[in-house]
Formats: sequence, C-alpha cells, structure tokens
Amino acid sequence: MFDNPYSTAVLAWYETNARDLPWRRDDATPWSILVSEIMLQQTPVVRVLPAWEAWLERWPTPAHLAEEPSGEAVRMWNRLGYPRRALNLHAAACAIVERHGGEVPAAHADLLALPGVGSYTAAAVASFAFGRRHAVLDTNVRRVLARAHTGVQYPPKAQTKAETALAESLVPPDAAVAARWAVAVMELGALVCTARSPACADCPIAAQCAWRLAGKPAYEGPPRRG
Ligand code: ADE
Repeated sequence: MFDNPYSTAVLAWYETNARDLPWRRDDATPWSILVSEIMLQQTPVVRVLPAWEAWLERWPTPAHLAEEPSGEAVRMWNRLGYPRRALNLHAAACAIVERHGGEVPAAHADLLALPGVGSYTAAAVASFAFGRRHAVLDTNVRRVLARAHTGVQYPPKAQTKAETALAESLVPPDAAVAARWAVAVMELGALVCTARSPACADCPIAAQCAWRLAGKPAYEGPPRRG
C-alpha cells in the first residue's frame, strides 16, 4: 500500500522555500526542461542559468537546433564543461525531429533512447514536463532518502535496487502531486539536506528523520564525495 510519511511536509516546505528557477515555471516547455536537465547534469544552477537562457533564445525548439551544424552547439555550450553534452543535445534534437516530428517525447523509453539521456534524465523530463509518475532519483534525492529513511549519512556509491524500490514506493499516486514531490525532495536535498552541512533546524522532516533520530552517526564505508 502507498505510504509516504514525508510527502505532506516536504510539499508544504517546497511551496514557500523553492527557488524560482525558469525551467520550473509554467511557461517552460518539454524542450527547455530537457535542455535544463542536460546542463544541470554536471554544472551548478548559477552557471546553468545564463547558458540556458541564451540557448533557448537561439534555439527555442529542437528543430531550430537540428538545422545547425553540431559545432554551433559546442560553441554555444561555451564554458559549461563536458562539451560532449552539447554534441549529445544536438544529436537528440535531430532524433526528436526525425523520430518524433519535432516534439520531445513523453514516454520514458523514448526519452531514454535519445543521445545523452540516461535513466535519471528520462524520468526527470517525463515527470517535470509531462506529469508522468516516475521516481526521480538524483544525488540529492538519494541523500535525503538515505538519511530520512535508511538512517545513514550518505547513500552507497552506486545506486542499489533497494534505493530504486524505496523511491518508487514513495511516488504519490496522483501524477501532478508525484511531479511536485519529485522536484520538492530534490530541492530539499539541494538547499537543506546538503552533503556536508545539513541544516536540520530548517528541515520539514527532521522529526521523522532516521539519521537524525539515531544521533547523526558518521558515514562508515569507503571514502566518497557527498
Ligand atoms: N529542478 C529540476 N531539475 C533540477 C535539477 N536537476 N537541478 C536543480 N533543480 C532542478
């Protein structure tokens, strides 16, 4: 049976504490959301913001980008790092035009088949752009669930089946709520339940957090980053 003991508090926290990021606004498109997720894979939000604005101004749809040589995408990528992502995004735009009539597909499997789109990104786009029910499990979410639910400071280095199953069990039944839950728990990890100095005093689920209730034991295991 569905039971998410955190969702009400996390959703309420998100309503008043979330950052106003342009890819979360009502006028975001599936394409602008896909571009944001690819940029955010390895680049912090503050550096993504101007690059994302410039990219979408120049290429507001996949078709606009697909018309240009891939070198233009790399040039436009500028200093975001990991420029292979620019080539992948160009290839993804071409695939969207060829296979999907220029519209970013909504199905997880179709998204996953696009260059540069992994399981996380496919779930994020299906959820944020199309309101599909998916567990959206990024580093931030994995850390929140490791602490709140499992009672350990950090998740294991590689994602386990148990983590996937836990995240899936927590997806609210209503699709619109599920999409907000996904972004809300991600935001909680980014702003409050941070890797090195979690602000437990500001956390809406501190009273339920297994890690905090256990006295915040230090992580035991191989060295790792956050
Ligand atoms: N909002 C939606 N997806 C995001 C991400 N990957 N990072 C930060 N904020 C986001």
